[in-house]
Amino acid sequence: MTLSAQLLTKRYGSTSGYEAVRGASLELQAGEFISIVGRTGSGKSTLLAVLGALTKPTAGKLLLDGADVWALSEEKRSIFRSRHVGFIFQFPSLLSNLTAVDNVAVPALLGCTMAVEAAYARASDLLARVGLGNRADAYPGSMSGGEQRRVVIARALINSPPLLLADEPTGDLDEDTEADIIDLLEQLHGSETFSFVLVSHNLDLAKHAQRIYEMRQGVLASIDLLPAVVDVEPRVRHFGPATVNVRPDLTVTAREPVRLGANLWGSVRPFLLGGAAVFASILVVDFGVAKYQEMQVRDRGARLAQLADMALSRLQADIQSVSDLGDGRYELAVYLWNVGSDTPIYVMSPEMHAYVQVGKFWQEVPLEPADSTSSGVLKIDGKLTYRYVFDARVKDFTQLLPNYMHVRFSDTMLVSPSSMPKGDVFERKDNFYVYLKPFDVADEVVLKRMKFSGKPPVWIPMPPH
Ligand SMILES: Nc1ncnc2c1ncn2[C@@H]1O[C@H](COP(=O)(O)OP(=O)(O)OP(=O)(O)O)[C@@H](O)[C@H]1O
Ligand SMILES: [Mg+2]
Repeated sequence: MTLSAQLLTKRYGSTSGYEAVRGASLELQAGEFISIVGRTGSGKSTLLAVLGALTKPTAGKLLLDGADVWALSEEKRSIFRSRHVGFIFQFPSLLSNLTAVDNVAVPALLGCTMAVEAAYARASDLLARVGLGNRADAYPGSMSGGEQRRVVIARALINSPPLLLADEPTGDLDEDTEADIIDLLEQLHGSETFSFVLVSHNLDLAKHAQRIYEMRQGVLASIDLLPAVVDVEPRVRHFGPATVNVRPDLTVTAREPVRLGANLWGSVRPFLLGGAAVFASILVVDFGVAKYQEMQVRDRGARLAQLADMALSRLQADIQSVSDLGDGRYELAVYLWNVGSDTPIYVMSPEMHAYVQVGKFWQEVPLEPADSTSSGVLKIDGKLTYRYVFDARVKDFTQLLPNYMHVRFSDTMLVSPSSMPKGDVFERKDNFYVYLKPFDVADEVVLKRMKFSGKPPVWIPMPPH
């Protein structure tokens, strides 16, 4: 895949907010391997999030295979990201209640990019190629940091993405293991032929790339270095070479198809199993974005960690209610709750969108604030509710629960400890999911297929996913 980044800027906060990436331009040819180095806080993770279309740039253009990804609809962009971009996050982020092979297979199962047997066969093959052929049934908790990294690499490659973005894939590993992982990525890069962007704080590792860039306070510049210094003595590898070709383990492919842990999807699981195709790439992407945000938080310095803690932990947000106003119109009430309410938290320009799932896609529906509570700067020193009215007259909606619509509310807001923030602002994104009873389906019709103690509820909250 080719990538063309043209004067990308990412600013957190208002027009006077902090520019984490400033006018970055970059051309990546199909199959090329480049690396980006830079000090902590220089904007590497932010740039990678922009290059992978996880975060929208404030200015500039991103062309992936010539397509302007931010000109695509949200649905198309989601599918594009999940099928074409593999992400290796700074921290392993494996699902602890799934085995290694399940973890690797998840993006293929949820994205429906291949049949279940093929997904497990490829997952087993990839695990063998990263030297973990005999650990397919191990749970992440029983694996070393280096092993978990290798599972993450296998997972990022399951859908054969033409572009792989790796954010400090060796972050907290010892030097030898770090070098092993980079060797492995290089070998996979040779055999799987993806375009590859590696972010690393370690210049020696970055030197393995064909070209090296440096981030300095948000500015990206290419640096000229001699090619990688080759070790005089070949190092002993700790795991099998990437070229080992292992036949897929048929006992693995014969397992129960989708063993997504109960803890993870909770009540969603039965519907996932029933119609996995429905969620498709949507889940993978949302999960990826949420994890990415979490990783960024864990990854930044103390100042940002404090800011992030305030924005993500001290400030809770959720749906309070959804009421049926008739004729397909509903009122959505969302609360923001400052749980450690001794110091106020300021929230700016919350922007809410509502989507109804139709097939594999999310169809946006009209939504507007019910009053002026949600505009301007909101001071939160307790619990604040803000309301919207949306119109959910959608035909042919997907039914994960019989007769109910699957609705997503996406909210972006800027959070700060001060009412006139400068650099101290955090961009927070939330996705809330509910089942919604369509206005034109009679209660008796719903009750024929589902049991409720009284009338069918207008909305049923879903666990985050
Ligand atoms: N969601 C956010 N909201 C507000 N500011 C942010 C957010 N994410 C990052 N920043 C700011 O942008 C700057 C760049 O952060 P980024 O995480 O991209 O740096 P980095 O180069 O990846 O650092 P590290 O090497 O520590 O991972 C930081 O100073 C941080 O304060
Ligand atoms: Mg980073």
